[in-house]
Amino acid sequence: MKIFLFVILFLTSFCKFVFAEEQKIIAMGDIEFGEYLSAECAACHHQAGISKGIPAINGMDAEVFVALMLAYRSKEMENPIMQMIAGRLDDEQIGSLALYFSILEPPK
Ligand code: HEC
Repeated sequence: MKIFLFVILFLTSFCKFVFAEEQKIIAMGDIEFGEYLSAECAACHHQAGISKGIPAINGMDAEVFVALMLAYRSKEMENPIMQMIAGRLDDEQIGSLALYFSILEPPK
């Protein structure tokens, strides 16, 4: 039992450590600002979700969302379209988009 608790504690602190940067960015976010910014994304990431090789982003976990956007912005992830889009967004905008997309219904 003690070991079990220890493992849980370890995992939660590990997640906090891994996502520290992401959480800071999410804390800057504003859902309504995110909704406003999302109009541009909807052109490719359709409301209904998946189509033609473009992944659905509705309902995505906010921390994962931020991590992906940072990876595109720093060009760690290769897609040139998303590199260009993420490159134009500051931390506050990415945090707002993360909050907004995380509350949407994920695709079925
Ligand atoms: C011109 C079309 C286009 C637009 C506009 C666009 N995206 Fe993308 N997005 C893509 C494509 C294509 C991919 C898949 C890239 C890859 O395979 O790495 C992608 C991938 C992503 C991913 C990673 C999804 C995953 O599951 O791996 C996120 C997050 C994302 N886009 C967010 C956004 C946001 C936020 C916006 C608006 C600010 C946006 N995108 C606008 C085409 C677009």
